[in-house]
This record gives sequence, C-alpha cells and structure tokens, in this order.
Amino acid sequence: NNARESLYVVSLYAANYFANELWTGEHGRAIGLSYFRERGFREDIIKKFELGYSPDQWDALILSAKAAGHKEEYLERTGLSIRNDKGKVYDRFRGRVMFPIHNFTGRVIGFGGRTLKTDKNVPKYVNSPESDIYHKSNVLYGLFQAKKAIREFDNCYLVEGYADVLSVHQAGIENVVASSGTSLTVEQIRLIGRFTQNVTILYDGDAAGIKASLRGLDMILEEGLNVKVVNFPDGHDPDSYMHKVGAGAFKIYIENNRKDFILYKADILLKEAGTDPIKRAGIIRDIVESIAKIPDDIKASVFIRECSRLLQVEERMLLTELNKMKSARF
Ligand code: CTP
Ligand code: MN
Ligand code: MN
Ligand code: MN
Ligand code: MN
Repeated sequence: NNARESLYVVSLYAANYFANELWTGEHGRAIGLSYFRERGFREDIIKKFELGYSPDQWDALILSAKAAGHKEEYLERTGLSIRNDKGKVYDRFRGRVMFPIHNFTGRVIGFGGRTLKTDKNVPKYVNSPESDIYHKSNVLYGLFQAKKAIREFDNCYLVEGYADVLSVHQAGIENVVASSGTSLTVEQIRLIGRFTQNVTILYDGDAAGIKASLRGLDMILEEGLNVKVVNFPDGHDPDSYMHKVGAGAFKIYIENNRKDFILYKADILLKEAGTDPIKRAGIIRDIVESIAKIPDDIKASVFIRECSRLLQVEERMLLTELNKMKSARF
C-alpha cells in the first residue's frame, strides 16, 4: 500500500539523516558521537545499529526532509514531527542520540531517542508513537541484527533496553533483543518463537527488573517456550555490567549464572520468605503455578520432579496441586 510505503521511505530518510549528523555534523560528532564513545560503544556497533543524532533545533529534520522532497504529512504520520494546537509543526526528536528501530526484515519503522542531559525532569527516552508501520507490541528491538545468531545458537537473550542490546552484542553475544518501550507482550514472544524455542531473560538487577522477569517467564512458559534467567548484581543492567567487567568476564558470568526458571523463582522467593513455614508453603504453590502454565504435560512433569528435589517436597503432593490448578482453569 502506497501510504505505508511512504512512511517507510521517510523513516529511512530520517535514519540516514540522523546517522549523517552523528558522523559528520559539528554537534553530532562533538556531542552525540562523544557520548557513545564515553559509554564505551565501539564504532562497528554504532554503525551496525545505525545510531544517530538529532540536532537540538525545532525543525532540523523537517527542513531537510522537505528540501529532499518528502511530504510533511508522512513525517507527521510516523510521529517524526508533531503538530501542536496552533497548527505549528516541530521535530519530535531534538538534541538526542538516536536508536532506529527496524522490523525483522530490516526496514526502519520507528526511533528511540535518548537525552544527553542528566536533568531528572527531562524524560530519558522519547520514542516514536504507534503508526501505520510501527506496532510496538509486535516489534523487538535488535531482532533484525540478531535473527541469524538466534537460529544458529537456538537461543534468544531478552534484555530491557536499547543500550543493553548494543553492549551484549558488543560482547560477542549477537542473539539478543529488547522489548523496548513496552513491557513484554505475547506477540513478541511468538515472534521469538519463529526463530527459537529457548529464551534467556537478562533484565536489570533492580526491583522493577525482577518483577518484570517473573511476569515475563510466566508468559514465556504459557507460550510453550523454554525460559532461563540470569540476574545481575544490584544496580546493574547488562550494559553497565558488561562495561564494568569486560566482554570476557561478562560471557563467563552469563554462563555461570544462567538459572532455569524454577531455581530462579525459588531463589528469589526463598530469600523473601526466610524460615517462615507458611511463607515457604506459599512459594511452593507459586512455583507450581508457573509449572501449570506449561502446555506440554511431559515437560511439566519433569519440572515437577525438579521442584520436588529442590524444595524437598513430595512429588505426589506437587502433582495434586498441579492438577488442582489446571482443572481450576475450566
Ligand atoms: N524506556 C522508555 N522511556 C523511558 C525510560 C525507559 O521508553 N523514559 C525504555 C527504553 O527502551 C529503555 C528501557 O525502557 O531502553 C529500559 O529502561 P532503563 O533501564 O531505565 O534504561 P536503560 O536502557 O538502562 O538506559 P540507559 O542505559 O541509556 O540509561
Ligand atoms: Mn508492523
Ligand atoms: Mn531499569
Ligand atoms: Mn537499564
Ligand atoms: Mn542502562
């Protein structure tokens, strides 16, 4: 369809414009490129992900795009420009480093823009809105760059943010994607499922990240995929941890701290419960609840056995609990 095609074309134009500003613009180099370098991103990674810089002006992209023959209408429909109440049109992304978002065939469909300011009142990221070509719930950041490696290693690492994708990739782990801009959706899990049945969650080592990982793992199990989790020391995300310890140590950390979902849940919940027997019983139920989401009964029974061994509870009891939960669904 013609209008959609025009949205793709103007998005690609914008990605090239922002990249050009980053590499050749006076401010782009001094501010944007320096920022990426200070964060430790290598040039080949900056190029591979087509990162850019949006000048700190109200209409830099609009003027350039119009001079190149692009219509204002399409800039607006991609959300690259915004029309205010008074009918004045201005650039959405100003003075930010830019992360183009591709669909899995490699076409640019949206952007994330990070501020360079440390001011807490400025939103850290501004993202493209939904449009006729950008449906956030169906998109995984980095999938285009990762899909070959996902198939090759038959596993997909899932991180929270743009910078995490870049840093994990830079560490030599290229099968990594992020559900940037939204919390993980069923559509995103099914998209991963087209490439592999195995997901490893690498979320931020903070309360929000742990909460999101517990929600994510249940959703992944429900879609019939296998899921493991790695957690990071408090306050670290994959990006900050990779740059702290280096690529080699980062890879070893991932290998040594990969836990299957039962062990991961048990560890978190046992820490919270301490020795309180009632709380411990709650944990068992909580874990069986996750196992009950697995559609494959044979797989579920394997995890019941593991749970029994890990928590020192009779397998028969766990199975009774499992069956209760499954029949409660109808
Ligand atoms: N995010 C967003 N809008 C915000 C904050 C976060 O869209 N105001 C999204 C971004 O995709 C971001 C992800 O949520 O990458 C994770 O958020 P956070 O952990 O706060 O940011 P980081 O990715 O760690 O960002 P950075 O390392 O650049 O500080
Ligand atoms: Mn789409
Ligand atoms: Mn976070
Ligand atoms: Mn983070
Ligand atoms: Mn970060």
